[in-house]
Amino acid sequence: MAFRNIFSHARIEKNGMLMLVLILLTISVGGIVEIVPLFTIETTIERVKGVRPYTPLEQVGRNIYIREGCYTCHSQQIRPFRDEVERYGHYSLAAESMYDHPFQWGSKRTGPDLARVGGKYSNEWHVVHMIDPRAVVPESVMPPYAFLADKLVRQDDIAGHLTALRAVGVPYSDEMIANARADLLAQADPEADTDALMQRYPKAVTGAFDGDPKRLTEMDALIAYMQMLGTLVDFSAHGLEDFQQ
Ligand code: HEC
Repeated sequence: MAFRNIFSHARIEKNGMLMLVLILLTISVGGIVEIVPLFTIETTIERVKGVRPYTPLEQVGRNIYIREGCYTCHSQQIRPFRDEVERYGHYSLAAESMYDHPFQWGSKRTGPDLARVGGKYSNEWHVVHMIDPRAVVPESVMPPYAFLADKLVRQDDIAGHLTALRAVGVPYSDEMIANARADLLAQADPEADTDALMQRYPKAVTGAFDGDPKRLTEMDALIAYMQMLGTLVDFSAHGLEDFQQ
């Protein structure tokens, strides 16, 4: 019974070094079982149909959202709890933010979660709300962002933006980058031919977001971004509707 002798508890407890080695051995078994399988799969994010990179205009809107610190009051992650799902819609999937750099999940909710605000209001509502939130929601504590309607979108660096995002893994194609500026303009121009844009970016919402088709303003970009949030995945087609009310 030599085995019993070496590993008898009394012996382990009296020998610090032996106890340390055995503790490390025990813990590493758990670690290996949990971690090693992850090395064999390419990604831990389950791919979901419909998720695509942002259009150039949505991406500019997203940059403005981050620049203005909208995330200090708004989260973009619906948790899988009944109260959240009943208020905001289907809980957020990991795939829905897989192209986000940086992600905007957040936990601070002075205002409501915006993960599925796309299509909830008209463009006109957003314009009025951004210019003066209290004009549509009298009790609102959201600051006004009227200046966005007067600031023109910088257009010369959009291809560079997409290239930088491609470097961190967003699958922008050469064609998307070559057409970045044309797509940027076309999405907010009601007169433009948007067939190519729609083919590159299915479900893109187009139109004169701020009501003025002549100028491409930061208001256009921010509203284009608001209107697409949470709209890319068709939940009824994924058999994921079970959680929806
Ligand atoms: C100081 C906190 C604060 C900041 C900063 C803020 N918001 Fe809000 N937001 C709110 C509050 C509170 C509400 C709810 C009342 C209302 O609708 O105005 C709200 C509501 C909204 C809504 C309507 C959501 C819904 O489902 O009804 C949108 C869209 C929105 N904000 C967008 C933005 C954007 C875009 C920015 C940044 C440019 C921003 N907010 C910055 C506090 C904030």
